[in-house]
Amino acid sequence: MSLGIKVFAPASVANVACGYDILGFALTHPGDEIIAKFVDTPGLRIAKITGAQKKLPLAVEKNTAGFAALKLLEYLGESDRGIEFEIRKKMPFGSGLGSSAASAAAGVMAINALYKMPLTKAELLPFAVLGEQIADGAYHADNVGPSLLGGMQLIRDNASLDIHRLHLPKGLFATVIHPHIQILTRDSRAILRDTVSLTQAVQQTGNIAGLIIGLYNSDLGLIQRSLKDVMIEPQRAKLIPGFYDVKAAALENGALGCSISGAGPSIFALSANSNLAENIGVAMQGIFTDLKIESQLFISKINQEGAVVM
Ligand code: HSE
Repeated sequence: MSLGIKVFAPASVANVACGYDILGFALTHPGDEIIAKFVDTPGLRIAKITGAQKKLPLAVEKNTAGFAALKLLEYLGESDRGIEFEIRKKMPFGSGLGSSAASAAAGVMAINALYKMPLTKAELLPFAVLGEQIADGAYHADNVGPSLLGGMQLIRDNASLDIHRLHLPKGLFATVIHPHIQILTRDSRAILRDTVSLTQAVQQTGNIAGLIIGLYNSDLGLIQRSLKDVMIEPQRAKLIPGFYDVKAAALENGALGCSISGAGPSIFALSANSNLAENIGVAMQGIFTDLKIESQLFISKINQEGAVVM
């Protein structure tokens, strides 16, 4: 037996309008916690999951946190060591907030903390991505990257995890609204067409390039012109009742941009300060209230730290 350690990994917003599968940022809250300890019985075991209404598997190989941790333990040559996890889900899943990614990031952080940090966070990333992969079948780090490493991360190439932290203007705030409907990432990916037109590709690459220059130069006008998704949002918007009204409300209230968070149904907006972020949140939530859809609002700075030992 040993004393436990506790880790936290935050929610994240993936895609960030024009960066499907290659861009994401971390929020300060909500997030998942894992309490881990060494035990005498060999092997990794998930003893308890709270906050998930029994909807997440306790079986280690089927659980994103468990699988990521298992892969890391194999790498460390410690598969037989007795370890027990308690997972505290403190965020909704199927929400577009990177819930499975946060669990996977917390899983590898917990193992690394138990072993007194043999790996850097960057070295933990491939194991965390493997964990998330079992949730939606795809290997992409646009949620796991920010949840683990913090900040806004650009993944130039997912296969090799060529990942880069972007400079951000001071004061940037996110507003995220989670309407209480559930969309599974797997389903939200399945509806996407395999091809895009050359016109869309040109517009989207212009926007992602413009966004990055805008972020580096703190050029809010350029950020605003670039936070547009012509490829994915038009295909997924139909999954979210009231999406275009919520987006219009955010933009009318000063958002730099507004789009679907990850695979949805959450919707995010970025703005220049916390006051704007709060006003935007009220306006976005008002639309869902009018539609009689319950929703939860999160106002957050960009979390530069990512997953932490608490
Ligand atoms: N980039 C992913 C998607 C994020 O939009 O499907 C959700 O896992």
